Amino acid sequence: MNFPEYRPRRLRQNAAFRRMVRETTLSTDDLILPLFVIGGKKVKTPISSLPGQFHLSVDHLVKTAKDAFNLGIPAIILFGIPDKKDPLGTTAYENNGIVQRAVKEVKSKVPDLLVITDVCLCQYTDHGHCGCIEGNRVDNDSSLELLAQTALSHAKAGADMVAPSDMMDGRVGEIRTILDENAFSHIPIMSYAAKYCSAFYGPFREAADSAPKFGDRKTYQMDPANAAEALREVELDIAEGADIIMVKPALPYLDILARVKREFNIPIAAYNVSGEYAMVKAAEKMGWINGEAVMMETLTSIKRAGADMILTYFAMDAARALRA
Ligand code: PBG
Repeated sequence: MNFPEYRPRRLRQNAAFRRMVRETTLSTDDLILPLFVIGGKKVKTPISSLPGQFHLSVDHLVKTAKDAFNLGIPAIILFGIPDKKDPLGTTAYENNGIVQRAVKEVKSKVPDLLVITDVCLCQYTDHGHCGCIEGNRVDNDSSLELLAQTALSHAKAGADMVAPSDMMDGRVGEIRTILDENAFSHIPIMSYAAKYCSAFYGPFREAADSAPKFGDRKTYQMDPANAAEALREVELDIAEGADIIMVKPALPYLDILARVKREFNIPIAAYNVSGEYAMVKAAEKMGWINGEAVMMETLTSIKRAGADMILTYFAMDAARALRA
């Protein structure tokens, strides 16, 4: 059927028709809010690279977690800013580390909010890499034990799910094993499976003080030019025991998201990263775009491409917009 018999505009003529034929619906259920937790008390310091986001001490973190829960957001993901760093990222896996304390407190005050923890070493190592260093390279196998210990310490603190973001080979299997051996077989793993070496992480690295002090992350994070390799990464992580796999960043990699969705039958998360958020906030501030409309269009596009859930600094704003 072609024009004039078929007229696509017939089903666009008013809001009710558009609602009836809408293919993708963004819901607050899809949102995961990333939060940055820091030591001290009564700290709520704005993060200049991420307008609207804060460094929160545990007391303020609990308040924000409550607000998120009351808005209907099902989960937060925690990033810790430790007091001390060393070559082995010791503060990442100590029992009373910043994330471990934060998890305990949030789970005791807002028990029904899912608390996910980012498992990585880069905020905790003095060199800023996601694993430990041998000579001048990031050593894969010696990093695995430290990452597994980090995940275990998060589970012991009460985390509902762990999310390894380091991109070392074999870490999902290592984490699955240590969790299972310690009576945490019920804790799922959300793996940053297809994580690209992206310049869109810039504002996050400022926020988390996690930029590498030498070199870059190209030897472990993926080359932005590769798509087939992303499918291999996802396949490996599923084989090692990942329960949810992630594509990151989101917007510049919607093609990857769509391919992963087509080829794998597993829940998929997408990370709408710091640079994607900061660009919208900056253009909004300049008066060049309608920030809220761009936010909703962005999140809808990520959902449409295949994400079952979206990690996004927009989570609170989007939940408010969806409620209105
Ligand atoms: C830690 C980590 C990073 C992000 C999430 N976990 C930074 C990086 O890999 O350098 C980026 C998140 C964002 O940009 O919003 N490895």
